[in-house]
Amino acid sequence: MKRASSQRAGKEIQSEIERLRKEIRDHDYRYYILADPTISDFEYDQLMKKLTGLESQHPDLITPDSPTQRVGGEPTKEFRQIRHPAPMLSLANTYSEEDLRDFDKRVRNLIGAEDYDYVSELKFDGVALRLVYEDGLLALAATRGDGETGDDITANVRTIRSVPLRLSFGRGEPRYRSIEIRGEVLMNREGFQKMNREREENGEKTFANPRNATAGTLKLQDPKEVARRPLRFFSYYLISDELNIDSQWESLQMLRKLGLPVSEHARRCKDISQVVETARYWEAERDKLPFEIDGNVVKLNRISQQQRLGAVAKSPRWAIAYKFAARQANTILNDITVQVGRIGTVTPVAELEPVYLAGSTISRATLHNEDYIREKDIRIGDTVIVEKSGDVIPAVVGFVPAKRPTGAKSFKFPQKCPSCGEPISRFEGEAAYYCENYECPSQVRGRIEHFASRRAMDIEGMGESAVDQLVSAGLLRSVAEIYGLEKRREELESLERWGKKSVDNLLKAVDKSRGRPFSKLLYGLGVRHVGERTAQLLAEHFGSMQRLMDSSEDELQFVSDIGPTIAESVHRFFQDKRSRELISRLRAAGLQFEEAARSREGKLSGKTFVITGTLSSFGRDEAKELVENLGGKATDSVSKKTDYLVVGENPGSKYDKARKLKITILNEEEFLKLIEMSK
Ligand code: IVH
Repeated sequence: MKRASSQRAGKEIQSEIERLRKEIRDHDYRYYILADPTISDFEYDQLMKKLTGLESQHPDLITPDSPTQRVGGEPTKEFRQIRHPAPMLSLANTYSEEDLRDFDKRVRNLIGAEDYDYVSELKFDGVALRLVYEDGLLALAATRGDGETGDDITANVRTIRSVPLRLSFGRGEPRYRSIEIRGEVLMNREGFQKMNREREENGEKTFANPRNATAGTLKLQDPKEVARRPLRFFSYYLISDELNIDSQWESLQMLRKLGLPVSEHARRCKDISQVVETARYWEAERDKLPFEIDGNVVKLNRISQQQRLGAVAKSPRWAIAYKFAARQANTILNDITVQVGRIGTVTPVAELEPVYLAGSTISRATLHNEDYIREKDIRIGDTVIVEKSGDVIPAVVGFVPAKRPTGAKSFKFPQKCPSCGEPISRFEGEAAYYCENYECPSQVRGRIEHFASRRAMDIEGMGESAVDQLVSAGLLRSVAEIYGLEKRREELESLERWGKKSVDNLLKAVDKSRGRPFSKLLYGLGVRHVGERTAQLLAEHFGSMQRLMDSSEDELQFVSDIGPTIAESVHRFFQDKRSRELISRLRAAGLQFEEAARSREGKLSGKTFVITGTLSSFGRDEAKELVENLGGKATDSVSKKTDYLVVGENPGSKYDKARKLKITILNEEEFLKLIEMSK
């Protein structure tokens, strides 16, 4: 009797687990493939949590295709080598309309009288990937390697959300025994930049561009770390004996049907003129995409025709890459100067003969650091190659040896700060030189600019040129003096280009900044390695300037996500007499030294609730307290920032407003369920 009932319970749990998995998979598909989610991140997390909970109680029921199995397995030592049964070919490159038309002529000659058409696709600037699905389950993911053999990176690829762990099939459809899919792994520009910002904050090396970041990530031996990186995938090629597919266009539809991400920007072109037109379009519009592309790939559509054309050497004859004009240009390196940043970093800057490059004229570019210049052997007078990719600042990437003039001069890094004349030094293990003079005018300017910037204290009217002017005029010698400007109205008004109105506006903006949250002030102080996110973490953890200043290095490291480098830097900053003096002046100026309404950490962190109407199980204030105890925020009025409106009996106008703003509305029962799940 007992056994039978526990068996039944077991069955029920199993079916609940399967139901949850299916629901999560459907949401994954909507989110990662269709980009059209129907539930909030929060609700999604709740489902995941529930599934993880059930699976951890019943580990025997865990299957490798469960959505919980993406978090990343154990670190590996080296990748297994995989031989590709069909080599992973590369494509011949073309660079002009003429090249494309030549390609078309070759195709026509080979095909003869038959009709043919093309598919034009984006050429994703990422890393090629080969996937094998066996009986519908992801069995292998491999890099291209040399085309013949690549690395088995299955554990890493399993963490990429847009790569399905199992293919989707319609009811009654066969489960294909073996399907091979090829495509490209990449990162959106935004995710890449965010990741780089965080790496910079943590004192880690940044990546040059999204492609390098993707390649570097896929090579990691720790899938858990890979899971944290913003990788995504696009498929563009399908091979299987079991599928009856006649064309590339059909392949793309089929891939979509199997649940794989396929770009919506593939286009069927009836002739080469349409191919050319598409290429022109994307060359002009590439920046509108959230990720980098470096061209178009043109493919003969019909598979039978592809087979007839075959391949030469390592490239197929039926496809070609049209590469966009590189965002590189050659120009003369007139000089190398050095620039001093707000934390004293001394960086070499290339002074260039102005050159037009991807939409703007540039005359300066970064040379990174002393070692970089030496390794690349770049000399003054050289014709250098400058590159601009995405939103990244232009950089010198090399020089043209054939054009090196006799007398090209090697650069000697200065021993003194160009701004204040003090000696500069290089710390062990770091590539950069630092000027350690806190009073160095360049640093003073940089600190003030940073403090006033939008993401910090947001003082409108205090941008680069205003700061420059105020510092040069002797009106500002430190960040603290910003709050003394009110007493110097006359001097301000007498400055060139300033009048009563602009001074008024500036002083108003200064006054307004007194109300900026403590976390923004903390970010604005410009402590080394403390970016926006770290500032927020510190502000939340310590709650006040005093507690933060009094904390030891150990206590700092206690904050999650704060490692020894940041802890050391923060501690050093607050031990410094000059910092302490600055802080006491800022305190006297009436800035926010406490983090407002320290929200408790909890399952509802970051979520804002509004409660309206009468609830039956508890009073409104009780409900608010519940929300706050779980780390959420409860406010009284509905706005775009509201995440949930909880509705009791007789709701007021808040209900209508929430509906208009498309805010998730919960009735009492749903609210209770959410609270229950969050505990
Ligand atoms: S098709 C035989 N389609 O470009 C066909 N490749 O030089 C092989 N790539 O290694 C590739 N976007 O990494 C194809 N839509 C696309 C592509 C694409 C990017 C990459 C791929 C390949 C390289 C070819």
